Amino acid sequence: MTSAGPTFAGLWRELERIGRDPHTGGYRRYSWTPADTACRTWFTGQAERRGLAVETDNNGNLWAWWGPKKPGAIVTGSHLDSVPNGGAFDGPLGVVSALAAVDLLKDRSFSPERSVVLAALTEEEGARFGVPCLGSRLLTGAVDPNAARVLTDDAGTTLADAMVAAGHDPGFLGPRDDLLGGIAAFVELHVEQGRALAPQGAVLGLAEGIWPHGRWRFEFGGRADHAGTARLTDRRDPMLPYAATALAARQAAEQNAAVATFGKVIVEPNGTNAVPSVVRAWLDARAADEATVGETVTTVRSAAERFCEQYGVTLSVRQESFTPLVRFDAALRDRIAGTLAAAGFSAPVLPTGAGHDAGVLAARVPTAMLFVRNPTGISHSPAEHADLADCEAGVRALAAVLEDLAG
Ligand code: GLV
Ligand code: MN
Ligand code: MN
Repeated sequence: MTSAGPTFAGLWRELERIGRDPHTGGYRRYSWTPADTACRTWFTGQAERRGLAVETDNNGNLWAWWGPKKPGAIVTGSHLDSVPNGGAFDGPLGVVSALAAVDLLKDRSFSPERSVVLAALTEEEGARFGVPCLGSRLLTGAVDPNAARVLTDDAGTTLADAMVAAGHDPGFLGPRDDLLGGIAAFVELHVEQGRALAPQGAVLGLAEGIWPHGRWRFEFGGRADHAGTARLTDRRDPMLPYAATALAARQAAEQNAAVATFGKVIVEPNGTNAVPSVVRAWLDARAADEATVGETVTTVRSAAERFCEQYGVTLSVRQESFTPLVRFDAALRDRIAGTLAAAGFSAPVLPTGAGHDAGVLAARVPTAMLFVRNPTGISHSPAEHADLADCEAGVRALAAVLEDLAG
């Protein structure tokens, strides 16, 4: 069998330079920024070098066709955007592995019966505009294009303006039933997020499903004042109910066997010697079932209301996104498991608490996910890692899967 090594490692070295912070080693590849544009340009160039026809759809998703644009396509890929100071693997591993798998198949003179399409979907992390999997949600119609256009980043720039600045027309955002209707299967290869594979001695895993999850924006409104002169009893300090609510979220998660995280906080005016006027904080909540997510969020919200009353602070809470429970296509997973077994891989089937475009697309097309072992399990951090040998195994596995599905 041809080694995927040189191809994968060479591609990886090229992409890993883009958007990396030299001090932390983390990535900031927010959608429609110069780093994102550089990633898109790199992907387009690599796909075209392989003779693939690349197009950007109306929602900003990239599709590189190996074979004619006809129904029944087998799509593989992931995303190129990142969380703030993210790892190198979350997203790019699936895109680079897709390119390397094409090389492997071409080396074997494989000629696909069905077209193979490599995809790089937009704003998967929701790091800039707040709604994760925005590209796939727009594609499937899970997000209203008018609502999407006016989403803002932390600087107040709308998605529409950001797309225009990057040279894309936001006027045509919206569902693409024609595109979705032409996809026979979508397979996303992704770095493992969590540490289930290493203890089992497995290099690869297959996704069973995705926990339901969502994001809620809590705004605690108080009154700015002088940190030295305002008497404690006179203050309306929104930091206090926020801090108490963050602890309540941890407690609610523990009680409900859920996870709940306040990972993003914006404080105004953000001065050391000023009582804040506003604390904006985003709650990310996930659990094995939707009712538990709902109960967890209700508990956190009630706690926030109580603390706000205690400290004379106002509260508003808004749900920004929600992804229901996802169960991936069992027949496709079984077929892939058979292909992997024939290629010498045993791949445990795992649930995950991480969101993915594959989860959004699963509502419309048969979808599967392949995980590549992450030895520490750490993700959304510069410490995220997968060994080169495991990445190369992932490429060989993906090539075997594409050969089977498209052959
Ligand atoms: C994306 O990685 C998410 O799970 O939020
Ligand atoms: Mn991620
Ligand atoms: Mn991802």
